Amino acid sequence: MGMNPGERNRRASFERHMGCRALTMRTHTLVLGFALAAASPSFVLRQERPSESFRAEHRSIREHLRHVEEVVGSLAEAPGAERKGRMSEAVAFFREHIVPHAEAEERGLYPAVDKRAGSAVPPFTASMRHEHRIVGRWVEELAAEAGKPSPDARTFCRRADNLLGLLAAHFEEEEEVLLPILDRTLTKEEFEKEVGGPVRRP
Ligand SMILES: [Fe+2]
Ligand SMILES: [Fe+2]
Repeated sequence: MGMNPGERNRRASFERHMGCRALTMRTHTLVLGFALAAASPSFVLRQERPSESFRAEHRSIREHLRHVEEVVGSLAEAPGAERKGRMSEAVAFFREHIVPHAEAEERGLYPAVDKRAGSAVPPFTASMRHEHRIVGRWVEELAAEAGKPSPDARTFCRRADNLLGLLAAHFEEEEEVLLPILDRTLTKEEFEKEVGGPVRRP
């Protein structure tokens, strides 16, 4: 059944109008959806996680670890005279930043997690605390190798790679398993009062 030109124009105008209206409604829906999401507690929680200071400390340490990784990767080609210095640089970073970070976690963060995870024996964070012991042991092994008159680059690199891998996994476990327990159960103020912050680098 055909339409006369007048009807066709009216229909086209109607469809254009409805198309614009649908678009406007979609836009309104999006704006409304965003406003609701912004007002919901989970959105606020994501924006202001109580554990943010620890996450920021991890980000900062990761950046330095990338540099340490480059230093370790350059050892094989480094002239003998420079090798020892580069090894000592890596060891100094682990001793001055990683070890104090782990100690601070065991003083404030881990007890707070254990308190909320129940009164299990051994405590919930036992395996994470043990990983700190492994980290400390491997750092000292690296220091011992670097302290030799002629340190072996291969031995040092192998252990440094182990340590870097362990730290990457350990940080991820803290961020994905431990910190969310406190983010769910503490406000930012409670977190700061009970846990405090990570050790700050000078
Ligand atoms: Fe840790
Ligand atoms: Fe950590």
